[in-house]
Amino acid sequence: MSGERRRPLILGNWKMHGLGADLAEIARIDDAVERLGVDAGLMLPGTLIDRAARQVRAVAIGGQDCHPAADGAHTGGVSAAMLRDAGATCTLVGHSETRDEGRSVADKARAAQAAGLAVVICIGERERSADAEALVAAQLRASLPPELDWSRAAIAYEPVWCIGGNAVPDAAHLARIFAMLRTEAGAARLLYGGAVDGGNAAELLALPEVDGLLVGRASRSAADFTPVLEAGAGG
Ligand code: PGA
Repeated sequence: MSGERRRPLILGNWKMHGLGADLAEIARIDDAVERLGVDAGLMLPGTLIDRAARQVRAVAIGGQDCHPAADGAHTGGVSAAMLRDAGATCTLVGHSETRDEGRSVADKARAAQAAGLAVVICIGERERSADAEALVAAQLRASLPPELDWSRAAIAYEPVWCIGGNAVPDAAHLARIFAMLRTEAGAARLLYGGAVDGGNAAELLALPEVDGLLVGRASRSAADFTPVLEAGAGG
């Protein structure tokens, strides 16, 4: 393991879920984050960011994607400055469900940081593969903008074949990938995502070089997310 262990970062990705009625659930999650003193964020649909950001005290509020351009004729697009303006402090880019890779992800990461957001760059192989390490390394290199501020960047390794499923890769696979990520992106926080829940969070966080988790389904209620947050808080 390289150096001192970083403080775990636990992020929830609500994807296309969440209406005004869910602000009460966000408040319950915020209470848990405050009580546990863990570094945590909720990556919300754009329509909820403003209202959520006004009500929370402890959990960071983030977006799930941003446009690579600062502004312009991009119908349906949401710029990083708009996310920031709504109250987001961070955003995901490159999540497999947004279906962009490489240069486009790097451009979004650059745009996010230029607007003052911390950025979480998502990468991961689509299918179970013996070449995963090389595939993910190539994907990572293509997704990093040259002027990335590493102190405001995290890399989320999410094997696409685990997202939405109920199993995580074996420890040997994760050890190989995270050792490679530490070499390539040593200064960033390294997160694991894909089928994380309260049952496997502590085990995943105990793996060498895993600094945090990106959680989909198990982040949408305080009941499911709290055990993950507790793992992040060290108990
Ligand atoms: P999941 O999603 O935890 O529901 O597998 C993770 C993600 O897509 O970020």
